[in-house]
Amino acid sequence: MYAVSSENKEITDKDVQNVFAAAKVRSVPPEREIISVIPEEFIVDGFDGIRDPRGMIGVRLELYASMITGPKTIIHNIKRCVEKAGLQIEDMVVQPLAISSVAMNKGERDFGTILIDMGGGQTSASVMHDDQLKFSFVDPEGGDLVTKDISIILNTTLENAERVKREYGYAISEDTSDEEFFPVETIGKEEPVKVDEKYLSEIIEARLVQIFENIKRALDKVEARDLPGGIILTGGAAALPGVVDLAKEIFEINVKLYIPEQMGMRNPIYATSIGLIKYVAGLDDIYRVAKGKVQTTGKVIPLQSKTVKQPTVIEEPVYETETYADEENYEESLVGKLKRWFNNLFE
Ligand SMILES: Nc1ncnc2c1ncn2[C@@H]1O[C@H](COP(=O)(O)OP(=O)(O)OP(=O)(O)O)[C@@H](O)[C@H]1O
Ligand SMILES: [Mg+2]
Repeated sequence: MYAVSSENKEITDKDVQNVFAAAKVRSVPPEREIISVIPEEFIVDGFDGIRDPRGMIGVRLELYASMITGPKTIIHNIKRCVEKAGLQIEDMVVQPLAISSVAMNKGERDFGTILIDMGGGQTSASVMHDDQLKFSFVDPEGGDLVTKDISIILNTTLENAERVKREYGYAISEDTSDEEFFPVETIGKEEPVKVDEKYLSEIIEARLVQIFENIKRALDKVEARDLPGGIILTGGAAALPGVVDLAKEIFEINVKLYIPEQMGMRNPIYATSIGLIKYVAGLDDIYRVAKGKVQTTGKVIPLQSKTVKQPTVIEEPVYETETYADEENYEESLVGKLKRWFNNLFE
C-alpha cells in the first residue's frame, strides 16, 4: 500500500514506481534475489481490477503482484556468462511466462494448463492458472542425457548418438520393430554395427519415462493434472517422434505439442526464442514504468506492503536471462533480431 504523494492526488508514474518499490521492500531471504515483479492489478481507494491507475485520483494506491525470486549465486553466474559473451542485459524474463505467451491461448492460461519444456539439460514443468505462473518444477534431465545414454549403451560418440537419435529415434518402443536396422559406428569396431530400431527406442523410452514420472510426482503434489487445459509439450527434445503419445500414456490427460508457426521456426526448439520476443513485445506501459524506464524524479517511499501477495511457488527456479533492447529502439531491435535469426537459419 502506498499513499499518493501529489498535491492534487492524481496518480502519476512516480506513484506507480513507488508502489512497486514498496512491494520490493518485502522481505526476500538473503540468499535470493528478485527476478521479476509482475503486476496483476492496482486498487485505488478500494476500487480493484485496475490495470493502469495513472491519471486517476485517489489517496491509497495498492498493488497485487507476483514476485519471482531466484538464488543470488545462480543469477549472478548467468549474468556474468552473458556479459562475458559481450552482451548487455537489459532485463530478465521468466522463461515459462515467455513460452506460455505463445504456446497457450488466453483461456488456457486462465483456466489452468501445464507447460512442459523439454530442453537439452533440463525438463521443466510450469503451471499457468488465472493468467499467472503458479508452480514450477525442474528435473535436471533432458535430451542431452538421452543422447548420453545412447552413446554409452551403443559404444558410440556423442555426435553419432545425437545423429542416431534424431534420424531413427522413437519414444515408444512398443510401436517400433526389431527387424528394422540402421548402422552405427562403434568404438573399437572397424565396420559399423547394425542396431535395431526397437533397441534404440528402448534406450530413449527408459530415460523419458523417468523424466515424465518425476514431473508427474511434482505436478500431483499441487494437483495440477486436474486443471482443464492438460499439458502442452515443447522444447527441442519434444521434437522426438512419439513423445506426445508417451506423455499421454504417462500423464493420462490431454497432451499436445507446441510448434511455432512462423516460417523457418516450425520446430519446438524455437519455442523459447519466439516466446521471449512476443512476451517482451506485449509488455504494457505499466511494466516499463515499474522498471523505471519512464524517467521520473522523486524519492521512493517504502510503506508497509501487506497487500502484495506472493502467489508463486517456485522450486529450483533456474531461469534463463534474456535481453531486450532500449524502449526507443525496441521495435527496431525486434525486427533486427528476427532478421539475424532468419539469416542464421538459412546460412
Ligand atoms: N529432432 C530432434 N529429435 C530429438 N531430439 C532433438 C531434436 N532436435 C533437438 N533435439 C534435442 O533437443 C535438445 C535441445 O533442446 P532445446 O534447444 O530446447 O534446449 P535448451 O533450451 O538449449 O536447453 P535447456 O532448456 O535445458 O537449457 C537437445 O538435447 C537435442 O538433442
Ligand atoms: Mg530451454
